[in-house]
Amino acid sequence: MIPVLTVRHLSRSYRLRQGWRRRTLHAVDDVSFEVMPGETVALVGESGSGKSTVARCLLRLEEPDGGRVFLGDEELTGASAARLRRLRLRAQIVFQDPSESLNPRMKVGAQIGEPLHLHRLARGREVRSRMLEMLDLCGLEPQHADLYPHQLSGGQRQRVGLARALITRPRFVVLDEPTSALDVSVQAQLLNLLRRLQRELDLSYLFITHDLGVARWIAQRILVMYAGQIVEAGPTEELFSRPLHPYTRLLLDAIPVDSPRMRRQRESPAGEPYIAIDPAPGCRLIGRCRWAAAECQAPVELLDSGPRRLVRCVGHFSGRVPVVEREVLSPSQTVMD
Ligand SMILES: Nc1ncnc2c1ncn2[C@@H]1O[C@H](COP(=O)(O)OP(=O)(O)OP(=O)(O)O)[C@@H](O)[C@H]1O
Ligand SMILES: [Mg+2]
Repeated sequence: MIPVLTVRHLSRSYRLRQGWRRRTLHAVDDVSFEVMPGETVALVGESGSGKSTVARCLLRLEEPDGGRVFLGDEELTGASAARLRRLRLRAQIVFQDPSESLNPRMKVGAQIGEPLHLHRLARGREVRSRMLEMLDLCGLEPQHADLYPHQLSGGQRQRVGLARALITRPRFVVLDEPTSALDVSVQAQLLNLLRRLQRELDLSYLFITHDLGVARWIAQRILVMYAGQIVEAGPTEELFSRPLHPYTRLLLDAIPVDSPRMRRQRESPAGEPYIAIDPAPGCRLIGRCRWAAAECQAPVELLDSGPRRLVRCVGHFSGRVPVVEREVLSPSQTVMD
């Protein structure tokens, strides 16, 4: 089975000017992963870790400075404008704030149908019937088609954004914090809708979130990103019950819990995220890691640690960072069903 998405050594940096100094921010630094058909992979990490930059570079809304991206067996990187347009029908992106992608002066129905016109995939009545079908699939009513975006709630607008993204029948969708602006109960409804659409339309997702509870609810596999790099990857439940990288533990510790016993298991110092401006070659977590040692200053690679697990931590492999089994709440306790 070939992956729907393959990413190899993706990099994107920004040149900064600070007074007379020129510096480079490595926003995405040698990121590789794949997404299999029907799979949801979550990309998690704190604000500024580079998640949205990955998303934008994947679909070439922004040009990466290095690396390769494939949709199925076709390469997106290096594709001509015409080929890119065609490939983009198979991959869509949905952002946190649907208002940014929706036109405030255009009725919802027309916006959902618009990609069919733009790509000449349908005309006239067929556009309308496919639009109505998509409205229904996304849990909206036919009368919503005649409203303007501001007449809808935040959750409904996000459904419109989704309907517009899905009308060309992509196989792969990047969801960049699609539920972060919504109330918890609306968020849960949208997550359930995404799961249903995935089954019914045979979709694969890259789901970007800073919320590990949400990642656990939606994803089979999690990629943890810190300061532009993937520091750990693994199947969701394993990553929650046996996190291997100190940064993953730090993120897990930041999830609010009620139980005093679970609070005692917490071990990480908080601290500020590192920003990779002219970064030193070693581990980027040094300033926040209680296990940091001299050996962490050497370059660190993302390496296999057992089946389907990857970790970027020298101390893990030398045995200095102990592996601890963690007690985890059931997913229904972290996100409402
Ligand atoms: N156009 C740009 N020019 C300069 N720096 C940028 C630019 N775009 C992003 N950055 C920087 O790149 C880093 C990664 O940003 P990015 O938006 O990808 O993070 P993120 O993980 O999506 O964060 P958030 O959770 O807040 O959405 C940040 O330090 C950000 O300030
Ligand atoms: Mg972002």
